[in-house]
Amino acid sequence: MSTYLKEQRKVTTHRLFEMKQRGEKIAMLTAYDYSMARLIDDAGMDVILVGDSASNVMAGNMTTLPITLDQMIYHAKSVIKGVKRALVVCDLPFGSYQGNSKEALASAIRIMKESHAEAVKMEGGSEIRESIERVLCAGIPVMGHLGLTPQSINKFGTYAVRAKEEAEAKKLIEDAKMLEDIGCFAIVLEKIPADLATKVAQMVSVPIIGIGAGGGVDGQVLVMHDMLGINKGFSPRFLRRYADLATVINDAVAHYIDDVKTCDFPNEKEQY
Ligand code: KIV
Repeated sequence: MSTYLKEQRKVTTHRLFEMKQRGEKIAMLTAYDYSMARLIDDAGMDVILVGDSASNVMAGNMTTLPITLDQMIYHAKSVIKGVKRALVVCDLPFGSYQGNSKEALASAIRIMKESHAEAVKMEGGSEIRESIERVLCAGIPVMGHLGLTPQSINKFGTYAVRAKEEAEAKKLIEDAKMLEDIGCFAIVLEKIPADLATKVAQMVSVPIIGIGAGGGVDGQVLVMHDMLGINKGFSPRFLRRYADLATVINDAVAHYIDDVKTCDFPNEKEQY
């Protein structure tokens, strides 16, 4: 368990707001299944994101676009069963909320009812304002997501740093203020200049969670497979690896294969 875990109380959207107010950083990580969610929650994580990055790291797709609402609900249902303390947020997948606000609400309601996740995350600013507002009106907490929004990768054409130019930075600031005004409880800022992210975090009262957005924000999020070194093919500058599980797993599996082939496993104590 983390040495920073002060209390076992359930994390709520309100507690995240209090953490920002007292300057306590928020730790957020993705999870997609029961067993890993249990380990991550036991370690003292504040927020667990059932990210649509499941499309990449669980399903092997190139982008987050193919994952469906049913698949996100399946992952979120599994995660929820392993979590006691962390706030569990589930991504609304591509195509489940951009069309119109009624569809957005229906998708968010399915996630809340069927998976028991506690909040949803939606990518985008003014373009999807109506959808976010309708979801919020139903009492469903929404986490915003600005900057590099992977569901729009085909529009961007690149995973490069966003909002380096003044016009895009200005729009991002306006969008962040708008998300705060309409009632989002937190905002993810992905892959933008650190100075801009710090400025946004100082301007709004809701927690700003960064990924590739520097240390001046209220919390950090990473994709679990990247930070544990399961997925070693992805090495952006912002990623810190805390383990080399690819090597650990590879060594263990190779050892098992050897033991089977050499008739070392099972031994007499490992049978009935
Ligand atoms: O899906 C995801 O993992 C995310 C994080 C990168 C914030 O949205």
